[in-house]
Amino acid sequence: MIRQLLYRSGQLHEFTGPDMARLLLQARTFNARHGIGGMLLWQDGLFMQLLEGPAAAVDALYARIASDPRHCEVRLMVRAERTAPLLPGSHMAWCEAPLDGEALEFEGLETDSQALALLESARSDRVAAAMRDFLHGAPVPIGGLGCARVMERVL
Ligand SMILES: Cc1cc2nc3c(=O)[nH]c(=O)nc-3n(C[C@H](O)[C@H](O)[C@H](O)COP(=O)(O)O)c2cc1C
Repeated sequence: MIRQLLYRSGQLHEFTGPDMARLLLQARTFNARHGIGGMLLWQDGLFMQLLEGPAAAVDALYARIASDPRHCEVRLMVRAERTAPLLPGSHMAWCEAPLDGEALEFEGLETDSQALALLESARSDRVAAAMRDFLHGAPVPIGGLGCARVMERVL
């Protein structure tokens, strides 16, 4: 069995393209070493991330991510056990919405089209559905006193 976590959060740090590329490189190196897969999504100042892998490693990584000051209002949406990962072999896929990519915030970062296709095709999977909704711009209710920037964007 593997653990699957899905959370969402609001961006606090002003990430540039190179900042985000560095974060992804660091995440992919660590995650590959610990057998953790998943996908990081970004949409207008909000993150959603899927983490899948050995239970102890996923829980420990989530605890570290949740205390990262570069984002806030980290809300766990799903914590489940599965026999197989939703996104096998992906150590941290990336996708930025909107999917038409007209005005990319993080130039130079490539959407993982294989992971995206898997999300789009997993018709009855509720985690895939939540991720698809996020990428297609469904509103994410998020806010709070510690999260002024995100509040601004949502209001
Ligand atoms: C939105 C977001 C997603 C992240 N995802 C990962 C990840 O998948 N794997 C990882 O090792 N670090 C990830 N990080 C970075 C961690 O929060 C943390 O900075 C990193 O693990 C280094 O931790 P340390 O400074 O305690 O050594 C993420 C950070 C943010 C803001």
